Amino acid sequence: MKIPFLDLSKIPNEIQLKLQEKFAKLLKRGVYSFGQEVESFEFEVKDFLNTFHAISCANGTDALELALRALNIGSGDEVILPAMTWVSTAEAVIMVGAKPIFWDTDENGLLAKDWTKAVTSKTKAVIPVHLYGQMLEMNNLMVKAKHHHLKVIEDAAQAFGSFYDGSFAGTWGDVGCLSFYPTKNLGALGEAGMCLCQDAGLAERIRLISNHGQPERDQHNLVGRNSRMDTLQAAFLRIFLEDFFKHQQLRKEFAGIYCEELSGLPDLELPFNSQDPSSNMHLFVIKSPRRDSLKQYLEEHGVGTAIHYPTILPDMVPYEHQGNYMNARKLSKECLSLPLNPWMKKEEVYRVCKLIKDFF
Ligand SMILES: Cc1ncc(COP(=O)(O)O)c(C=O)c1O
Repeated sequence: MKIPFLDLSKIPNEIQLKLQEKFAKLLKRGVYSFGQEVESFEFEVKDFLNTFHAISCANGTDALELALRALNIGSGDEVILPAMTWVSTAEAVIMVGAKPIFWDTDENGLLAKDWTKAVTSKTKAVIPVHLYGQMLEMNNLMVKAKHHHLKVIEDAAQAFGSFYDGSFAGTWGDVGCLSFYPTKNLGALGEAGMCLCQDAGLAERIRLISNHGQPERDQHNLVGRNSRMDTLQAAFLRIFLEDFFKHQQLRKEFAGIYCEELSGLPDLELPFNSQDPSSNMHLFVIKSPRRDSLKQYLEEHGVGTAIHYPTILPDMVPYEHQGNYMNARKLSKECLSLPLNPWMKKEEVYRVCKLIKDFF
């Protein structure tokens, strides 16, 4: 039995049919950028996440860049972010001309609580990353950010549907950035992203920047760029959004099996929030000092796993920085993401558990 980490060709037939029907309809309509599907998708996400403004864009990396630009963060400014994240978080900061200031994470990969020690007179913003779908304690972070007069840009790319203290990931900060990359819990059949915010003026700026600064055709009020969402992606995402909770239930059920079957094994640590309903269970990340040999063993037995992420950003050439990133670096050496997605079968989850138990 081969069990890939994620196989997107396994989307269930009934969803594939809906997607095909939608595609056929849109071919007849002949609108491929923006349009009614994008408007409806924005409205539905707004409603779903209980946020005031939802501004679609081309991908999650752009969402971060648009947020930074709209908040006037650029040359001479510093932005604090965790050392362990997907590269986009730092990339966006550099793309707007600001300087990323890396800070260590806790043992679970979330920005360590003492991040305010990195604040200087140049600091303009902090980017908490809800890594793996686990949420930071946002009330605490918001209080600290406010105290230091900092903007908060939530990188909620991995956390669609996660919540903390009753509010969804992405709705706490000045701007929340979402990615609908195909592997995400709410994933497109291509690239797509979104900014969430609660302030009408800021929302308008993000919208303008994402579409050449034009409130209407051929009127350019500021220098922007093209980061519009494809009509097709919005239409497909609306279909996936309809079944979001159903798919979340499957993820949670599978995560529950992993927890039950794998608890108490020596040299294996389960994710701290694996049974917590507030996590969207985007990734099921175990930790083990024997990570590399376990990964190889699983591979030899047909099971695909992934490492999120094998190298922390300040250890990479373009982002090189010396600092104390002890927790983040340890996590990068020990973390292993097991297959967890709604397109899997229960037997496959049990098979992965059996192999892991055999290994240990
Ligand atoms: C933490 C994080 N930030 C940002 C992004 C960027 O999203 P996208 O791939 O849609 O540009 C991702 C996507 O993988 C991510 O995981």
